[in-house]
Amino acid sequence: MKETKTAKKPKTGGLAGIVAGDSAICTVGLEGQGLTYRGYSIHDLAERSNFEEVAWLLTRGELPTPGEFKIYRARLATLRDLPGSLKEILIRLPMDAHPMDVIRTGCSMLGCLEPESETNPGWQVADRLIACVPSMILYWWQHHHGGLMPALEERVGSTAHFFLKGLSGKAPSESATRCLDVSLMLYAEHEFNASTFTARTIASTLSDFYSAVTGAIGALRGPLHGGANEAAMDLIEKFRDPEAAEAGLRASLKKKEKIMGFGHRVYTVSDPRSDIIKQWAARLAQETGDKVLFPVSERIEKVMWDEKELFPNLDFYSAAAYHFCGIPTSLFTPLFAIARLAGWSAHILEQRSDNKLIRPVSNYVGPTQREYTFISERR
Ligand code: COA
Repeated sequence: MKETKTAKKPKTGGLAGIVAGDSAICTVGLEGQGLTYRGYSIHDLAERSNFEEVAWLLTRGELPTPGEFKIYRARLATLRDLPGSLKEILIRLPMDAHPMDVIRTGCSMLGCLEPESETNPGWQVADRLIACVPSMILYWWQHHHGGLMPALEERVGSTAHFFLKGLSGKAPSESATRCLDVSLMLYAEHEFNASTFTARTIASTLSDFYSAVTGAIGALRGPLHGGANEAAMDLIEKFRDPEAAEAGLRASLKKKEKIMGFGHRVYTVSDPRSDIIKQWAARLAQETGDKVLFPVSERIEKVMWDEKELFPNLDFYSAAAYHFCGIPTSLFTPLFAIARLAGWSAHILEQRSDNKLIRPVSNYVGPTQREYTFISERR
């Protein structure tokens, strides 16, 4: 058969700059708007809102009324409990499993226990996952670290408070709680990033909500995406002072190594979320008496700008901020996932509202047509 399609050379790699669909959820670096969720500036939200309100805004399209907000917060609190058979699976997952693998498994398992259906529609699954993925991590973590899950009556309040309290067993400080709350808002949504696009692609096949989210978790795990906050912490922790950081960074750059937490596919000058989380990292550094981590981070930022004109993205200063909140490094990316569940959910619902199968074409660069030979005739 003759090939009829003319192979075209792609103009860009990794779909860079390609508009892959319409969305009314978020603008990223749009001229005159910057980063907005449903038209609200990220600066206003980070200053005045909270994660649960943002999750409602993203999944429902409008800010909640006071009554809606009260009911939503209470609803999330009641949805934090985990089914017994999910708990059984979670405690069988090894202590050295990556927590992203734990939530990927937990999410998939919940899809078997509480499948999406007419009586458990997508928006309800979204609420359930936003509420109970934090519980999955805490339950597995505390099982292996000898801690206790917060009692049912303590599962009220914000996601940030629930998570920090569940992790340390103690009431978290107000600033740590607000820092995590702000970070969850910053991480909640970012239009067609790799994990969201994965979720939309899966949703576009008319697959179920859990499959779309499970796939998105897998996409987020990699260090070029959500895994960057964990990788940034691994880097920052290596250095005992800013001078050692500068020398180490210059050596890495000489070897053409990538420095996680820097650069961005869409932003070219700066990431508007970075300044916000940096301020929180600075504040917590002062409160916790840090004399190393924050100065080292600032020096890395300076060297990256001087050497490569690369700026920190949200992941870089999130590393120090989370560390000062007392969060273990391996839980950084799962926190990103908890936040992004709101964005993924909004996108899955939006994709379904005007669905078209996502199925692009490739630019073929393989051999031209050739004749098949039987195995006995091959040398
Ligand atoms: N450290 C060192 N160099 C970097 C870099 C980084 N973090 N980010 C980009 N560069 C360099 C590349 O080496 C490349 O240089 P070259 O042209 O000399 O080969 C150039 O900048 C373009 O990078 P590329 O990876 O092709 O651009 P992209 O648009 O695909 O990259 C990212 C976007 C985010 C994947 C990239 O900046 C990166 O890998 N950053 C680190 C991971 C990270 O923080 N991810 C979270 C993103 S929010």
